[in-house]
Amino acid sequence: MNGAGWALGILGITLAGICMGHQGAAATPGPLVQRGRVLFMRPRGIGGNALACTSCHLEGGRDPDALPLLGVAAQYPRYSSRAHRTISLSNRINQCIVYSLKGRRLPDHSVNLEALSLYVSHLEGVPTAFHPLRTTGQPNLAMGRSWYERACVSCHGMNGQGEANAFHAPPLWGSQSFTRAAGLAHPGALAAFIQKAMPLAPEEGVNPGGLREHTAIDIAEYILAHSRPKA
Ligand code: HEC
Ligand code: HEC
Repeated sequence: MNGAGWALGILGITLAGICMGHQGAAATPGPLVQRGRVLFMRPRGIGGNALACTSCHLEGGRDPDALPLLGVAAQYPRYSSRAHRTISLSNRINQCIVYSLKGRRLPDHSVNLEALSLYVSHLEGVPTAFHPLRTTGQPNLAMGRSWYERACVSCHGMNGQGEANAFHAPPLWGSQSFTRAAGLAHPGALAAFIQKAMPLAPEEGVNPGGLREHTAIDIAEYILAHSRPKA
């Protein structure tokens, strides 16, 4: 072994020692978890639109009202009706990458996929089931539009394109949004998300979580009446 090799060896032992020293402290995430967290907040090179994982799984997946990922890792492997088979957590993440982020499936065991899986596994808590709203009857698109213009437009823009204001809200339709095969592309699912999580901040007298269910459905139908990418 040459000098550099020795130096690396010693560095390795030192780093291992430091990591082991922290083993008891679950609060200290390892570098791969950190990498996963960074990708979750800003999935550079992974997605094909303007969204990040945290655009829908708010607060890095910790917001109880916005598709929380707390404790979900333990539920995998599980059956996926979309894939017609039992899938792993990485497989599930790849579904969001392909359908919600309009990206390319990451290879199994690639560092980025493992980092994202590890990050999600690190989100400990009790999982909460997601219940789409029941959509029956004709949606009122005109009503959806007027509510959109009142409670959403300042952040998401007149053309659903998102705005570069302090909130940096992502696009809701158009080429930079989620695909037609995404989970949120179903009116009931989108409405349930909107009803609990939006507007992000009080807007024109509407508080987060304050929209009536049928209003959230009209807004969801209005959003989904616009064009968006195919899967
Ligand atoms: C456009 C919105 C959107 C984006 C962006 C998105 N997801 Fe999702 N994700 C969803 C929806 C909707 C579900 C289904 C929620 C449910 O049924 O519990 C979901 C489900 C999941 C699940 C399974 C949760 C469970 O309860 O089994 C995981 C894990 C996940 N997403 C991870 C990610 C990761 C990692 C990213 C970024 C690479 C991401 N998602 C990006 C909308 C999104
Ligand atoms: C105060 C600003 C603000 C308002 C008002 C607002 N949003 Fe959002 N919205 C955001 C931000 C910011 C995110 C992404 C969260 C993040 O990145 O942490 C988001 C995310 C979303 C998402 C998931 C990501 C995507 O782009 O598809 C949907 C859907 C959504 N908002 C719909 C709505 C609807 C419908 C309304 C009106 C009822 C609304 N929002 C009002 C700021 C806002």
